Amino acid sequence: MRTTLIVIFFMIVLMSCNMQNSNLPVVKNEPLVPFAPPVSFEEAVRRADSIVKSMTIDERINMIGGHNFFFISGCEKANLPRLYLSDATQGVHLRKDLDAQLEKSVAMPCPIMLTSTWNRKLAAQYAKSVGEECRAGDIAVLLGPGMNIYRISQNGRNFEYFGEDPFLASRMIENYVVGVQSTGTIATLKHFLCNNTDHRRRTSNSIVSDRALHEIYLPAFKAGVDAGAMAVMTSYNQINGEWAAQSEFAVSKLLRSDLGFKWLVMSDWWSVWNPEKAMKSGLDLDMPGEGDLKWSLFEKFGDSFLRSNAARLLKEGKVTEDDINRMATHIIAAELAMQLDKRPVKDESYLKNFKQHEDVALQTAREGIVLLKNSNNILPLNKPEMKILVTGYFADARMSGGGSADVEGYNWLSIVAGLRNRFGEQVSFNQNPTDVEIKSADVVILSLGTQDSEGWDKSFNLPDEMNNRVNEIATINPKLVVVINSGSGINMTSWNDKAAAILHCWYPGQLGNKALAEILAGDVNPSGKLPITIEKKFEDSPGYPYLPAGETEKGDWDIDATMTFPIYDINYKEGVFVGYRWYESKNIEPLYPFGYGLSYTTFGYSDLKLSDKELKKGETLKVKFVLENTGKVAGAEIAQLYIQDEQASVDRPLKELKNFIKVDLKPGEKVLVELEISEEDLSFYDEKSSKWVAEPGKFNVLIGSSSKDILLKDSFDFND
Ligand code: BGC
Repeated sequence: MRTTLIVIFFMIVLMSCNMQNSNLPVVKNEPLVPFAPPVSFEEAVRRADSIVKSMTIDERINMIGGHNFFFISGCEKANLPRLYLSDATQGVHLRKDLDAQLEKSVAMPCPIMLTSTWNRKLAAQYAKSVGEECRAGDIAVLLGPGMNIYRISQNGRNFEYFGEDPFLASRMIENYVVGVQSTGTIATLKHFLCNNTDHRRRTSNSIVSDRALHEIYLPAFKAGVDAGAMAVMTSYNQINGEWAAQSEFAVSKLLRSDLGFKWLVMSDWWSVWNPEKAMKSGLDLDMPGEGDLKWSLFEKFGDSFLRSNAARLLKEGKVTEDDINRMATHIIAAELAMQLDKRPVKDESYLKNFKQHEDVALQTAREGIVLLKNSNNILPLNKPEMKILVTGYFADARMSGGGSADVEGYNWLSIVAGLRNRFGEQVSFNQNPTDVEIKSADVVILSLGTQDSEGWDKSFNLPDEMNNRVNEIATINPKLVVVINSGSGINMTSWNDKAAAILHCWYPGQLGNKALAEILAGDVNPSGKLPITIEKKFEDSPGYPYLPAGETEKGDWDIDATMTFPIYDINYKEGVFVGYRWYESKNIEPLYPFGYGLSYTTFGYSDLKLSDKELKKGETLKVKFVLENTGKVAGAEIAQLYIQDEQASVDRPLKELKNFIKVDLKPGEKVLVELEISEEDLSFYDEKSSKWVAEPGKFNVLIGSSSKDILLKDSFDFND
């Protein structure tokens, strides 16, 4: 009798909890609406085709190579304007040596920082801002977003990309593409494909399995293609033995046939080695082509420009008029679809939106800074009168990734300036403080990091001098806050325990250090989470070793310009085990796991429920759980959903990210999160059948606040 009563009591409690949960506000992700150009692809191709037929062969050949570094030729009789293409990944890169397009452009946080926000809508706003600046500057084609997966922390261009996980990168990129193109600017997905290192990027050969291509390196491009991107740029490297720009496998098979890309494919700058192969590969546009601006470093490519070779190849019967027509048609179709024949690219009315773009840049930095450590809640620094000593390597510098992605920006705030604006007289800045100054400060902010760039890779290890500095200061004053600026993870292992707090601030753009000051002060609660794993040592990484025998990272452009090197193979031997997929399957403890980041509040996860215990082909399963802000301040949590296949006929990662949501919550606020899973989320790429396959069996749903911190778990069966 007593037992029955107890059971009834618990059932009532459970039912009332369930009822309470069902009354909670439901939060879910909105589906993405892909970009549809004003003129459909079919119509644009039909019209482009008839324009091409009306052009002389010389006019058509003139279209297939770029002009003067950054232009596509116009065609007067078809009313096609000459088009300006511009970089790209941290905002609009100004080239004052070309036609003056813009006086200034907003230096946005770098894309890996945008990815750290895990905020899909922000990705669209960020990209819309960049697209509007393109319109203001007469730029028809943005040479971004870049989306090469973070395979190794040493890649000098990681800052330009979207981290290590294909799912997270895909969701951010699809929003990015829609954001840029909604302004009438064409987005270019780059660099296709497997350009995951910049060490000798022109003479490296990425050897990658079909499965890794499809599961790791292609999904972000697929997301961009599905979102409606109208241009793709190939990469410098070879893929399985052929340079990307002339690889039929990469361009025709993977990109056009497997991913279904229909629009314009251009080469990266000076990367066609064999014009005949390039014209047969499916490529449409050879960049930069001949021009008034000469860059002697790349004279070698003067011999292989498509425009200067096409007539000869045609005469020799090595290429056909159809090849040339196809290329010109794709270029013109993209222009017609965006109605570039009907309206000017330049629209100065967008200049008035620059203030909004600054706000988006600031918000991206606020949400993209990742708080890695906060011992004894040393942060926020909210006691009045605190003496804040700022020191270190980049405290007074403009930290931005280098190369074509660099954006000068304006009204740039250094760390010192950002902190002074917020904390006023409390801040003192000294590059070489005495021990007494260090000791007497209430808190020491130490800036360190790396100045990454396109063109070369950098070491995962910081210079000894920087590492020693952390240890020296921490010994004198343990109230040490380390502020990192870098495009990747860095080796913090020797001092991670010594620093009281650590913030990863990437390259935060012109207003990023305002966001840093707001976070340090507690005006803004940090919510960024790592889109990468930070390893303890580079030797732990899936991509280690990769440099040719006897070579080290070079750190200058010479390595990029030297074409006489023998080709070196980079064997992607880890297959699909990239990032957390690698560290988890190899049981290697990273320093900071993928998806990790601290907040000034705490979050509770409870009541995981699946809509069914079984998922059938073609159906979706709803995953619901309660998320609550259990702390004292408002904050945003990024809840992550991972899928684990209990048993498979191939080796699969222990878990894979298949959904996430970012939710703003006031203290004590509770919501019911609703996410979905479908067959696609359970699938792997089967090399035997060249198809995605979901095998029947048991799958686990893991909900967590990072890849390591899994808080809820349930399972279901998949039956086909
Ligand atoms: C880079 C591309 C860039 C192009 C034009 C190349 O060196 O790899 O990302 O878009 O230059 O600047």
